[in-house]
Amino acid sequence: MSPFDAYVGTGRLPAGLTDSSDALVGATAQAVGRLIGIGVGPGDPELLTLKALRLLRAAPVVAYYAGPKKRGNAFTTVQDYLRAEQILVPLVYPVTGRIPPPPFDYEGVMRAFYDAAAEHIAGHLAAGRDVVTLCEGDPFFYGSFMYLHDRLAGRFRAEVVPGVCSVVAGAAALGTPLVYRDQSLLVLAGTLPEAELELRLRDADAAAIMKLGSNFEKVRRVLNRLGVAGRAQYVERATMDGERIRPLAEVEPASVPYFSMVLVPGRPWTGG
Ligand SMILES: C[S@@+](CC[C@H](N)C(=O)[O-])C[C@H]1O[C@@H](n2cnc3c(N)ncnc32)[C@H](O)[C@@H]1O
Repeated sequence: MSPFDAYVGTGRLPAGLTDSSDALVGATAQAVGRLIGIGVGPGDPELLTLKALRLLRAAPVVAYYAGPKKRGNAFTTVQDYLRAEQILVPLVYPVTGRIPPPPFDYEGVMRAFYDAAAEHIAGHLAAGRDVVTLCEGDPFFYGSFMYLHDRLAGRFRAEVVPGVCSVVAGAAALGTPLVYRDQSLLVLAGTLPEAELELRLRDADAAAIMKLGSNFEKVRRVLNRLGVAGRAQYVERATMDGERIRPLAEVEPASVPYFSMVLVPGRPWTGG
């Protein structure tokens, strides 16, 4: 049983995380609520949009993904904007960090987790409460909100508020334009196999390689082989406390966290 299942089934929460929905027991049920996914941006609370802020402040229920012991970056980004009366719904990931090898059924465990999370949120929606779900960056750009949207958008009204995504925040942190004129930007997950990364990056004008962590060394090898490592930059925790920018050659692979990316900016336009 995952920590979230325990929470859904018994009302118990992991230590330090609270869902104050009991406070609303007995409240008059109104029309069905809306599922609202808001992009909270890359980490700097000032990069939240005005619309996201308005909907966040108005919502009776705020759901967010969390680790067993941590509230997660999306929550931290907006925590100063929350109101004391809001119901907080932490969706605690059953697996974080390194995925156990087979026979552990990672996909099955995650499917069950998202099913349970969606049903918990559906309970609030059915009771007439809007649920804002927080998402780092943009909700529809590799955002975990998508799995709730897939499960609930057919049953409830759903809205998505786009957020400043980490790729453009990374370029701003670098102070380097990403794509000029008719250049194309390739966005990739560093989790792809090495040969696949190399194949796809071979013809790229510019690239953003996300989800690094233990994949960093593989990505650096590929970029070295393609002769573009010198143009690439490593960006860690863009716009957050502890932001770090380094040339690839200076990065210690063991130090690379999940919240990092490699950007390969397009060659500067020199035509005027
Ligand atoms: C699951 S994806 C979420 C992307 C997010 N929805 C967005 O719009 O940017 C997580 C990946 O985004 C990248 N990322 C997100 N925020 C970042 C930040 N502040 N600095 C560097 N990389 C970040 C990292 O590559 C990380 O592995």
